[in-house]
Amino acid sequence: MHITVVGTGYVGLVAGAGLADLGLTVSCVDINQEKIQMLQEGKIPIYEPGLEELVRRNRERGRLHFSGDIGEAIRNSPVIFIAVSTDAGPDGVPDLSQVWSVADQIADVLDEYKVIVVKSTVPVGTAARLRDRIRQRLRRPQEFDVVFNPEFLREGSAVEDFFHPNRIVIGTSSDQAAALMKDIYRPLYLIQTPFVVTTWESAELIKHAANAFLALKISFINEIANLCDAIGPAADVHVIAHALGLDPRIGPKFLHPGPGFGGYCLPKDTRALSQVARNFGIQFRTVDALIAVNDEQFRRVIEKLASGLGRLEGKRVAVLGLSFKPNTDDIRESRAVSICQALLEKGCKLCAFDPAATAQARRVLDSADIVFCSDSYEVVQGCDAVVFATEWNEFRNLDLATLKGRMRGDVLVDARNIFEPARAKAAGFRYYGIGRG
Ligand code: UDX
Ligand code: UDX
Repeated sequence: MHITVVGTGYVGLVAGAGLADLGLTVSCVDINQEKIQMLQEGKIPIYEPGLEELVRRNRERGRLHFSGDIGEAIRNSPVIFIAVSTDAGPDGVPDLSQVWSVADQIADVLDEYKVIVVKSTVPVGTAARLRDRIRQRLRRPQEFDVVFNPEFLREGSAVEDFFHPNRIVIGTSSDQAAALMKDIYRPLYLIQTPFVVTTWESAELIKHAANAFLALKISFINEIANLCDAIGPAADVHVIAHALGLDPRIGPKFLHPGPGFGGYCLPKDTRALSQVARNFGIQFRTVDALIAVNDEQFRRVIEKLASGLGRLEGKRVAVLGLSFKPNTDDIRESRAVSICQALLEKGCKLCAFDPAATAQARRVLDSADIVFCSDSYEVVQGCDAVVFATEWNEFRNLDLATLKGRMRGDVLVDARNIFEPARAKAAGFRYYGIGRG
C-alpha cells in the first residue's frame, strides 16, 4: 500500500519513517522545500534518537520517499496522513489553517475513494469540520473517509514509542476506514497493541485528556514538592512520590517534580482542552488549576536562587540544560528558557550550556548578558551559582568538586533533583532541590 504523510515535523517524519518500516511505501511531503531537500540528502532536520537510522534504512529499501509535490503524492495514495502543526495562540485556540490548507489540496485532486487521516492534535469537532470542508470543495461527489488517529509520541523516545505504543486510537464511524487503518498497523497488532476504535469526538478528546492527565500528575507532584519545601527537610517529595507510585491506581510515572512541564504538547494541549470545554459551556477547573500551577512553578527556582544569593542583580549564574527535557533539541515552552529569561530580567549575567539545544536557544535568548558555552565545566567558570534546569544524563556524573572549584560561589539549584543532596554538600555546595527541604 502506498501512503502519503503531509508535514515532515516531529510527528510526520517519525510516523512516515515508522510506517515505511512496517512495510508500507511512504511519500513524506512538505511545503518547506528546504526541509525536503535536506531529507533527500539524508539529513534529518530534528534531533531524535534512532530517527536518522530509521530513515536511512527505509530509503535504502526504496520504501520511503521525500517530495515537495503534495498534489502528486496525494493523487497516488489511497491513504493520506495529515501531520502539519496546529500551533495555538496564548488564548489556547489552535490555529487549524495548515490543516484546512492540506484539506483543500486533497479536495482539489480527489477522484477516487481515499482515507484522510488526521494525526495532528485538534480540538473536538475538527474531523467533522474537515469532512464538511472537503465535501463542499469537491468539484463532483466523491466518497472518502476521515479518520482521527492521534499520536502519543514522546520527543526523545518517539521512534521507540511508535513501535511500542500503549494503544492505537482510531476515530471513525466507517467500517471500511477502520479496516484499512487496522491493516496499516497490523504488525503492531501482532505484538498485542490494543486498538480503540471509536467516534471522531471520543478520539479527539482521548488525545487531549491523555496529555491533560499527565500534566495534572506533574502539577500535583509539584504542589506536593512546594508543600515539602514549606515543611522543611523532614518532608521529602521523592519518598512521597515513590510511595504514591506503589499504588497501581496512581502509578509511578509522571510524578517527578521540577520547574514545571514544557515542550510542544503538554502546555498547548492543556490550554486547548480548557478552551474546548469553555466552548461547550463547561469550566474545566482541574485543567485550569494545573495550568496555573505550571505557569508559576519555574519561579520557585528563581526564589531558591534569590534565597541562596541574596540579591540577584549583577550575579553570574550558570544554567545547565536548555531543552524542555533531555534527549531533544526542542526548546518550545522550555522551563529552562523561562528560568533564563526571568534571571536576565532580574539583571543576572548568564552562562548557559546544553548538549543539543544551544543553537535553538540562541535564537530566543538574544541578550548581551548571556554567553553560550560548549561544556559543563567551562560554563560554571567564575559563577556565583549554578542551576541544573534539564536532567540530561551527562550531568548526573559530573564531578561536583571540580565544578565547585571553578566557581566563585557555592549555590547549586537542582531544579530537576538529579543529585543526592549529601553529595552536593560534600563537594562544598549549598544545595537547593525541589521539595527536599
Ligand atoms: C505535530 C502536530 O501536528 C501537532 O498537532 C501535535 O500536537 C504535535 O506534533 P510537529 O510535527 O511538531 O506538530 O509540527 P512541525 O514540526 O511544525 O511540522 C509540521 C510540518 O508540516 C512543517 O514541516 C510544515 O512545513 C509542514 N506543512 C505545513 C506542510 O507540509 N503543508 C502545509 O500546508 C502546512
Ligand atoms: C508528551 C506526551 O508524553 C506524549 O504522549 C504526547 O503525545 C506528546 O506530549 P513530550 O512533550 O515529548 O510528550 O514530553 P514528556 O516526556 O511528556 O514531558 C513533558 C514535560 O513534562 C517535560 O518538560 C518534562 O520535563 C516534564 N515532566 C515529565 C515533569 O516535569 N515531570 C515528570 O514526571 C514527567
